[in-house]
Parts: sequence; structure tokens; C-alpha cells
Amino acid sequence: MGSIVSKDITKFLQRVGPDPDSVIKDMETYADENDFPIVGSAVGGWLCQLTQLSESRSIFEFGSGFGYSAYWFSRALPDNGQIVLTDHDAQNLNKAETFFDRSDFEGSVHFEHGDAIETVQQYSGPFDIVLLDNEKDRYKEAFESVREKVAPGGLVITDNSMMTTITVDFEELHALVRGEDIETHKNTTGIAELYEAIGRDPAFDTTVLPIGDGVAVSYKNS
Ligand SMILES: C[S@@+](CC[C@H](N)C(=O)[O-])C[C@H]1O[C@@H](n2cnc3c(N)ncnc32)[C@H](O)[C@@H]1O
Repeated sequence: MGSIVSKDITKFLQRVGPDPDSVIKDMETYADENDFPIVGSAVGGWLCQLTQLSESRSIFEFGSGFGYSAYWFSRALPDNGQIVLTDHDAQNLNKAETFFDRSDFEGSVHFEHGDAIETVQQYSGPFDIVLLDNEKDRYKEAFESVREKVAPGGLVITDNSMMTTITVDFEELHALVRGEDIETHKNTTGIAELYEAIGRDPAFDTTVLPIGDGVAVSYKNS
């Protein structure tokens, strides 16, 4: 398993980042015990701060698992805020509900079972923040399904945007982003296609943060 960030840096970011509450600690234990991929606390803390900075109220997640990233978002949402969690595994969402039952958040939390790309069609938006954390080879499809529903000034956050684990090869990703025509794993191709779609979209300005597995932050400028 590769990592774009050294263990020392990850540990440092955890130490200086926002304090996890008891629910977050329990979620991290659950992820460890079940080998479940979550964004991790460095990214989670950033999602929370980004929600604060942007004064976001409405969030949609593509791929919520058992609710770890959603929980970090919800810590900075106002009481009239809303977050939509999606997953095609009902057990994950049931687990998410048990964690959210312990949360102080008083806004709306929707747990949507099924394909997130279909679920989003039931929502009109606008969303202040969208998280892409579904199958990597469907990132572009997910982005296109929600593009018009992102509020002006809103954000699309793409997790795993520099992913080196689960067979994504960083050198190959680099080559694809440079425009080389190579055959590679579908995850690498999917991430490159997302960069192509969102990176060339004049309505979005994208920067990439090398935390976790890489987080692309795309700002909707119009
Ligand atoms: C990496 S995990 C999500 C982790 C979560 N965002 C977090 O950090 O806490 C990806 C999740 O997305 C779900 N998933 C993948 N593609 C999906 C899709 N198209 N629709 C709904 N759920 C999907 C998987 O079942 C899995 O639970």
C-alpha cells in the first residue's frame, strides 16, 4: 500500500488538527477494526473547516460509507443545514444512523440507499458542497450528474484525487493528466477523466491538496 503523505506528517496533522469528539473516535476505531476506507482525520478536519469558512448549509455526498466524512461536515453545519448521505450498502447507512443518533447536529440528515448518481436526481439542490467519494471510474459521471446543482460559489470536493493505493499508479496518473494515451487501471483512468472534466470546465477553479489520498477542491465561480 502506498501513501502520498509520510506517517510522520499524517501523525502531525492529526495532532494539530481539530479535536475529534467521542463519536469520531469511535468511528475511527470501527474503520480500523473493519478495514473500512475513510477520508481520515486530516481530511475530515479540513472538510469541517471548509464548511465553516464557506458558511455552507447544504451538502451532498456521493459515497458516504458509515458516515465518517458526513459527520465531520455536520460539525460545522448550522442548525438549519442539511446533509445527504448516499450508499449502495444499506448496512453502512444503518451504521451511519447509529453514529448520527449521538450527534448534536439539529439540521436534516438524509440517508439514501441506492446508487448515488440516481439518488441525486431526486434532489434539486442547490448544494454548497458536494463530496465525490464513489467508484473512481464513475467520478466524471457523478460530477456531470450534479454540476448544475452546485450553487454559485459552491465547492466540489473529490477524494482520492492523488490516490496511490488500490492499484492507482501515481506515475500513470501523472502521464494521463499530461495527456498521454496509456492503458492503465480503471481507477487511475477515472481520476484522470475527472480532472479532464472539471479542470477544463470554465465554471470551476480547481486546486489539489496533498492530504489523505489527495483532495481536489473545485470552486464554482459562476
Ligand atoms: C471510500 S468509502 C466512503 C467513505 C466516506 N466518504 C468517508 O470518508 O467516511 C466509499 C463508499 O461509497 C459507496 N459507493 C461507491 N459507489 C457508490 C455509488 N455509485 N452509489 C452509492 N454508494 C457508492 C461504497 O459502498 C462505500 O461505502
